[in-house]
Amino acid sequence: MSHSRLEQSSPDQVKPPRFFVISDKPHDIFVFFIRLGVLVCLLISITLALYSAFFKPSRLFLPDRLQATDRARSTTTSDRPGAATNISHILFCIAGSENTWQDRSRFNKLWWLPNETRGFVWLDKEPRYDVSGAIPFKISNYRWKSFVHGQAAVRISRIFKESFKLGLPKVRWFVMGDDDTVFFPENLATVLGKYDHSEMVYMGDNSESVEQNLYHGFAMAYGGGGFAISSALAIQLSRIFDGCLRRYYYFYGSDQRVWACVNELGVTLTREPGFHQLDIRGDPYGILAAHPLVPLVSLHHLDMLEPVFPNMTRVDAIHKLMGAYHIDPSRILQQCFCYDHKRHWSVSISWGYTVQVYPTLWTAKDLQTRFRTFQTWGTLSDGPFMFSTRAMGPDPCDKPIIYFLEKVKNVGNGAWTLSSYKRHKEGEDGRSCTRLNITPVVVERVRVAALKLDPKYWKKAPRRQCCQIMNGGLIKNGTLRIRIRHCGPRESITV
Ligand SMILES: *[C@@H]1O[C@H](CO)[C@@H](O)[C@H](O)[C@H]1NC(C)=O
Ligand SMILES: *[C@@H]1O[C@H](CO)[C@@H](O)[C@H](O)[C@H]1NC(C)=O
Ligand SMILES: *[C@@H]1O[C@H](CO)[C@@H](O)[C@H](O)[C@H]1NC(C)=O
Ligand SMILES: *[C@@H]1O[C@H](CO)[C@@H](O)[C@H](O)[C@H]1NC(C)=O
Repeated sequence: MSHSRLEQSSPDQVKPPRFFVISDKPHDIFVFFIRLGVLVCLLISITLALYSAFFKPSRLFLPDRLQATDRARSTTTSDRPGAATNISHILFCIAGSENTWQDRSRFNKLWWLPNETRGFVWLDKEPRYDVSGAIPFKISNYRWKSFVHGQAAVRISRIFKESFKLGLPKVRWFVMGDDDTVFFPENLATVLGKYDHSEMVYMGDNSESVEQNLYHGFAMAYGGGGFAISSALAIQLSRIFDGCLRRYYYFYGSDQRVWACVNELGVTLTREPGFHQLDIRGDPYGILAAHPLVPLVSLHHLDMLEPVFPNMTRVDAIHKLMGAYHIDPSRILQQCFCYDHKRHWSVSISWGYTVQVYPTLWTAKDLQTRFRTFQTWGTLSDGPFMFSTRAMGPDPCDKPIIYFLEKVKNVGNGAWTLSSYKRHKEGEDGRSCTRLNITPVVVERVRVAALKLDPKYWKKAPRRQCCQIMNGGLIKNGTLRIRIRHCGPRESITV
């Protein structure tokens, strides 16, 4: 073998290459310079060829698929990358079907902002009814019918790709949701704005019921709560999507398929606990009254649960919550605690929704633990859930008196809000606590003043705000007054 290492290192082969041997003969020097010239020219042209091949790809030589990618990239980067993310950068991709949309569009109309939000609900066929005021519809491409297994789930998974292929300008985030998902669009933009859409991000949260996560997957974003795909991830995901769907034909849901495909790109779930799948049965009160310290992004399954406000229809109740949301989006459902130290009462506020006044003292840890007013989704049991819960009672002195939102208004040139919460009439609660001398039975109404919460608040490390009972706890005309404010740097919420 002439190219063996052994042969090359043999003594008579070890001599400098001819190009670098400069002899003193004039002829040899001439030849040397010609060779040097040729070599330099060769090197320059190779470098240029390599440069143009690798750094400035000519469209002529690119496969179709890559050209499409380029086109998509140019539509997503035409906005100033540094500018803050707002509602206009989101494309909603909502999964619907003709036979449920008429009913469920009632929830959609409550959050859809006709001239602000962008997106479509994707239906299997043309609706036979009028749905003006809701998100506009599109009919899914017939290609889902070519899939042998799980056609419905495939159609819904492909909504992502069809939305991507529309090539709409300045889309930073593709947000999937169901036709019965209620989004809170300003808060969604606030949460998305914490991340860079030019990186590959897959964002959402999993199910509340452990049994659901055990069955479908813990690390998956559940589609009903909604999930977001950054434009950078969308470009790559759309390339592999159809092939990937065929590989995971045996999966149950569309969200699970998308998750599997995202995983093939090495991207994992970024959890944002403001997305709520609400895989629960019963009354969502416990969850809404003790929201985690993040903006409320979505609610799901609202037509399967008790209305969020008692003695109202489900739709009217969400309409009422939306009213408070529109006045101070960043603050909706934000919880804070304070104490009436003289009377030994604890107060928990979930802004825009409910106030609880306890005849006894409870720690911050207890007050932020959710009341178990609901059961698991599949087996209707008391748990386990993905968070801690507590039972209400049975001692009436452990139970709060519950107040529900009455109205919210702007005050002080719109910089402040004044919200009032009226005592709920039904059920046994703290009012039945007779062994204590002073129970909050005299409090008919709680009025809460708060400075509006700037969305920038959510860019910082979250810290719960503080509240304080005003006028030394004076109850005038049945009304207890409370103010919400920033906590002092050294302040703690201590019983
Ligand atoms: C959203 O951001 C874009 C810049 O990317 C800006 O042009 C537009 O006016 C903003 N829209 C709103 C409603 O603030
Ligand atoms: C949306 O914009 C159109 C025209 O720009 C206008 O006629 C319509 O009233 C607007 N709708 C809302 C709800 O603002
Ligand atoms: C429920 O609502 C109806 C009508 O809106 C009202 O007459 C009734 O008093 C309410 N019941 C309770 C317990 O608030
Ligand atoms: C006391 O409260 C009632 C409603 O509960 C209200 O109609 C009345 O005006 C209030 N009185 C005063 C003096 O604020």
